[in-house]
Amino acid sequence: MLSDIVKRFHPLPAKSKIVILGGGFSGQHIASVLRSLGNEVLCSRRNKTSKGADFIFDSNQTSSTQWEEIFDGTTHLLSCIPPLDNGKDPVLSQLKAYLSGLNLKWAGYLSTTGVYGDSKGNWVNENDLPNPKQKRSIRRLTCEKEWTQSGLPIQILRLPGIYGPGRSAIDNLIKGKPKMIDKPDQVFSRIHIDDIAGAILFLMDLAKDGTRPEIINIADNLPTSNIEVLTFASQILGTSLPKVEQFETASKAMNAMALSFWQENRRVSNNLLCKELGYSLIHPNYKSGLQDCFRQLQISKENLYYN
Ligand SMILES: NC(=O)c1ccc[n+]([C@@H]2O[C@H](COP(=O)([O-])OP(=O)(O)OC[C@H]3O[C@@H](n4cnc5c(N)ncnc54)[C@H](OP(=O)(O)O)[C@@H]3O)[C@@H](O)[C@H]2O)c1
Repeated sequence: MLSDIVKRFHPLPAKSKIVILGGGFSGQHIASVLRSLGNEVLCSRRNKTSKGADFIFDSNQTSSTQWEEIFDGTTHLLSCIPPLDNGKDPVLSQLKAYLSGLNLKWAGYLSTTGVYGDSKGNWVNENDLPNPKQKRSIRRLTCEKEWTQSGLPIQILRLPGIYGPGRSAIDNLIKGKPKMIDKPDQVFSRIHIDDIAGAILFLMDLAKDGTRPEIINIADNLPTSNIEVLTFASQILGTSLPKVEQFETASKAMNAMALSFWQENRRVSNNLLCKELGYSLIHPNYKSGLQDCFRQLQISKENLYYN
């Protein structure tokens, strides 16, 4: 919850200005946290009618935007935009020369733990060589390299499945479309958006004192099966669950994207972030994270009722 993070962190130094490219699910939340701490933040979206669009950035459109006005005085930059279909990074393709001229203190790139490929359920950490097999993960690794070679003070933040209020097993149950798929030994790692925001604030602060590992996993402590997560969500909501389907049967009806997630099995280690650097997770596991999603749902229902 926003207030949990705000209590734990200080604002960035006075006169800091953060530009977030790609104010989608994670980007909006990170922007809200930074603003609640009193920082100046600007967030891009592709459409000016989208929520929280402080300015428009769409790498597929030519733009008449005066970038000087947007970026003037920017000290921190975060890109939450996925790779283009051709494997290029949308931000660097359009703005690299411009960004290089800024006096950035920190730059972050939200990447994915998909770059590790399939570890057959073993733990993966930042020292493991990437071994992406899915096309989208191969593109992602290319973008990571573009960022690390950009000359900017970059940190690559590798994320597993992102969830939070409005996008979680609770929402899947409410929408009535959860699938209880049993694939023995299969686990997924995940991260709550509070901890993406919390870890970013923590890392920006460390970078101030010169500690800035180039690649960091941001994951919770407990990779688990989707069945366990859905079962806990149904207990919180007091709803029933559909019957369990075996993966062999369920996979026949999956589209290629869904299937690709089940073809890889890895446990993402957060040792570097949490043990070596000392970040303390707000939601160490899916139970704490889902309870937060449920609390937020209750609050938004109450607001609907009273407004
Ligand atoms: N979802 C996951 O479980 C997961 C897991 C690991 C990593 N990631 C990666 O982490 C990042 C953040 O994830 P998220 O779930 O918060 O993403 P999201 O909600 O889909 O937001 C992506 C943002 O990128 C913008 N965008 C996409 N293509 C663009 C382009 N060509 N030019 C300009 N802007 C563009 C979108 O613009 P609009 O706001 O206009 O839509 C949106 O603001 C993404 O790179 C995602 O691939 C996601």
